[in-house]
Amino acid sequence: MDKDIVLEVKNLSVSFYTDQRKNTAIRDVSFTARRGKTLCVVGESGCGKSVSASAIMRLLPELSRIESGEINYYGRGEPIRMDKLDPDGELIRQIRGGDIAMIFQDPMTALNPVYTIGYQISENLLEHNKGMKKSEALDKSVQLLKAMGIPMPEQRVNEYPHQFSGGMRQRAMIAMAMACNPQLLLADEPTTALDVTVQAQIFELMADLKTNYNAAVILITHDMGVVTELADNVSVMYMGYVVEEGSVDEVLRTPAHPYTKALLSSIPVLGRGRNQDLQPIRGATPDPFHRPPGCQFEPRCDYAAPQCTQAMPEREHVDGEHYVRCFRYKEVLKNE
Ligand SMILES: Nc1ncnc2c1ncn2[C@@H]1O[C@H](COP(=O)(O)OP(=O)(O)O)[C@@H](O)[C@H]1O
Ligand SMILES: [Mg+2]
Repeated sequence: MDKDIVLEVKNLSVSFYTDQRKNTAIRDVSFTARRGKTLCVVGESGCGKSVSASAIMRLLPELSRIESGEINYYGRGEPIRMDKLDPDGELIRQIRGGDIAMIFQDPMTALNPVYTIGYQISENLLEHNKGMKKSEALDKSVQLLKAMGIPMPEQRVNEYPHQFSGGMRQRAMIAMAMACNPQLLLADEPTTALDVTVQAQIFELMADLKTNYNAAVILITHDMGVVTELADNVSVMYMGYVVEEGSVDEVLRTPAHPYTKALLSSIPVLGRGRNQDLQPIRGATPDPFHRPPGCQFEPRCDYAAPQCTQAMPEREHVDGEHYVRCFRYKEVLKNE
């Protein structure tokens, strides 16, 4: 067993049951988060990124349930099952906010407007550190704000969230997340609401966290540009499936799935200037209630062949850590 593995999700499927219709939003999803590494989960809106994160955190929306699969947490030495074998979510309640911390797109989902920033970080510290004194917790909160690049932390620790700018709030939320030295940081589109400069600063901060705290990071994004900047490993999702995964080098240099290729050709390349010929992916993502019968990407795929309308391809090993769900991946690889 690889000692660096903090979390392993295996063959996870989650369905929603609404209006007597069943929608299996994530299908047979597997991924692994390792200490000191960033795994980027990338894909267009609605592909199942947030549902995957919510399943890990046991924060699934109402009317949804885990159908099958495993979630194993290894951060405490002995593996802990966090899926159906922990039916009440008792274990994950102990782990959430401590061993595993989550940061969201909107910091106000984590910050309470009626308490000072310092109070909120302190509460989190006190909850997960038995015997810590309130004054110690407040000191540690100041240190954390400082470590997250918030100027004048002694002063700002006594301020309320509304006194912080968007970027500063995001830093405060990350400070709160880091308060308990998490083994795993799960970030769901943490910078989508921020402007580009602040985005870059937050990403720099996240890269530092990975190194300084040796945490495993799962970073969810719809932006391939973010993947090129931050990922060690990448999982590309489409219509609920992980269609390609591997090290960032493998996936970005030799994409084996036509969807990954299409995503890559739609990001601007540094140095090529503004007048780049960015190719949007033709067609639209299908409605989850009217899925194509075969490969989910087939209707939009330039490589589609008759067999692609028959079934969703199984996960095939390409090389090293590189896996793909595509019948035609050898053609895709040939056609650089
Ligand atoms: N609250 C919900 N009720 C019903 N279906 C949902 C709900 N949230 C998500 N879904 C379904 O799950 C799919 C994946 O959603 P999500 O994981 O939020 O996508 P994203 O990749 O944009 O984060 C959606 O396309 C939708 O079909
Ligand atoms: Mg989402």
